[in-house]
Amino acid sequence: MSIEETIIRIIKNAKRPVVLTGAGVSKESGIPTFRDAMDGLWAQYDPQQLATPRAFAQNPKLVWDWYEYRRGLVNHAKPNAGHITLAQMEKLYPKMWIITQNVDNLHEQAGSTRIIRLHGNIAETVCYNHCRGERIPIDKADFVWDADQSTPPRCPHCGGYLRPNVVWFEENLPAKAMQDAFNVATRCDVMLVVGTSGIVSPASDLPHVALHNGAALIEINPEESALTRYMDAHLKGASGVVLPSLLGMIS
Ligand code: OAD
Repeated sequence: MSIEETIIRIIKNAKRPVVLTGAGVSKESGIPTFRDAMDGLWAQYDPQQLATPRAFAQNPKLVWDWYEYRRGLVNHAKPNAGHITLAQMEKLYPKMWIITQNVDNLHEQAGSTRIIRLHGNIAETVCYNHCRGERIPIDKADFVWDADQSTPPRCPHCGGYLRPNVVWFEENLPAKAMQDAFNVATRCDVMLVVGTSGIVSPASDLPHVALHNGAALIEINPEESALTRYMDAHLKGASGVVLPSLLGMIS
């Protein structure tokens, strides 16, 4: 049996597939990954240096503005063929889960419903001081902000800064999402690992959990990642191309 036939058989027979997605799955929607060089004004900055609590404490306006820029990209983005294929796959596999590290809404927009979000949601804003509880979104109508302001917007409840509802480096992931992700990774029979560099933990631990519990691992990525050597198969290419052709082969 060829490797292609083996992959098709594994996916066709799957009962509880899980798809772990990273920034690469949204790249064809025009959202740069965290490893891409940034454009224009932001070219001098490294995303890994902006997405930290320390960066926000030192320069809240800079970090807020960077997320405003990313929010602009996300607001204009549309799901690509990769997101759409994953939503179609949910119809074939009613027990399928997507675990995403992405903070955009493109899986939801494509029609997927069983999504575990590990790193939050860029469309939401929360209080930096957690004055109403951790990661409780503040309604957009309750605060004002314009780009000329010298600080991020202020929390309508405590007057502290507001921040995007995303997980920064060095911060804990939302406990329920993490627990749900470990549960589904433990029980899955195949995990598709799509568009992630596999270097940011704990998300990058999930394929190991799946492997340890007997699942097959299949990676879709134009490049090799830190996880490639643990894979049963690496399908080299953009997810917007490889996923539709995979679905074509199994259906
Ligand atoms: P990265 O930016 O680290 O990696 C993106 C991956 O996508 C790379 O392995 C690319 O080779 C791959 N890629 C690029 N184009 C692709 C395409 N068209 N189709 C499929 N794959 C493609 O993104 P993540 O692994 O998601 O965390 O990064 C993990 C976390 O690091 C992010 O969630 C973010 C970041 O810091 C937080 O914000 C907390």
